Amino acid sequence: MLAIKTVKYYVKPAVFLLCLMPLLLIIGDLFEITGTLGANPIENMQDRFGIWGLRFIVAVLMISPLRSITGFTWITQFRRMIGLYAFFYVLMHFLVWLLLEQSILMSAIIEDIATRPFITIGFIALLILLALASTSTMNIRKKMGNSWVRLHSSIYLASILGVWHFWWQVKKDITEPLIYAIIISILLLYRLRKKYTYT
Ligand code: HEM
Repeated sequence: MLAIKTVKYYVKPAVFLLCLMPLLLIIGDLFEITGTLGANPIENMQDRFGIWGLRFIVAVLMISPLRSITGFTWITQFRRMIGLYAFFYVLMHFLVWLLLEQSILMSAIIEDIATRPFITIGFIALLILLALASTSTMNIRKKMGNSWVRLHSSIYLASILGVWHFWWQVKKDITEPLIYAIIISILLLYRLRKKYTYT
C-alpha cells in the first residue's frame, strides 16, 4: 500500500507529467523537434487532441473499477487530475477546430455545429465536460452535496457522445471507434451492475 505522502509528492507529479506528454509531443512535432505533423498539420493536431481527449475520458471511467479490483484506494486521488486532462485535450481539439479550421468565423461555426450532427454531438460532450471541470473543486463538491454525484455521473454520457462523435466522422474503417465503444460499454455495464447490486 502506498503512503499518502508518496502519492502526493512523487506519484502525482509523475502522473501529471506523463499526462502532459501528448501535448509536448504535438508541440515537438509542430516545431519539427520530435517529428512532423505530416501533410495536413491542422487535421493531425485536431485528431491527436481528440483521440487523447477520448482516452482520458476512458481513463477516468476506469478509476472506480480499478480501485475495486485492486483494492488500491489511492487511485481515486487521480480522478480529478485525469478528468481535467480529458477536458483540456478536448478543449484543445475544439480550439484547433475553432481557431485554425473555422478561423473564428461565427457564421461558419454556427453552421457547422447546427448542420453537421457529429459536430453537434461533440459540442454537447464538450459542454458536459466543461460543467464537470468547473464544478470539480472540493469546495463546490461540498456545497452541491448529492447533486454533485448526479452531475458527475454525466461523464458516462460524455463518453458515449464522444465515441459516437468519433464513429460518425469515420469514413471507412470503424475498428478504432468500435474498440472504444466496446471498452466504454464494458465500463458502463460494470457501473450499472455495481449500482443495482448495492441499492
Ligand atoms: C468529448 C468531446 C469530443 C471528443 C472525445 C472528440 C474526439 C474526436 C476524435 C477521437 C476524433 C477522430 C480523430 C481521428 O480521426 O483520429 C474527432 C474528430 C473530429 N472532431 Fe471531435 N471530439 C470531441 C468534441 C468535438 C468538438 C466540440 C468539436 C467541434 C465543435 C469537434 C470537432 C471534430 C472534427 C471537425 C473532427 C474531424 C477531424 C478530421 O477531419 O479529421 N470535436 N473528435
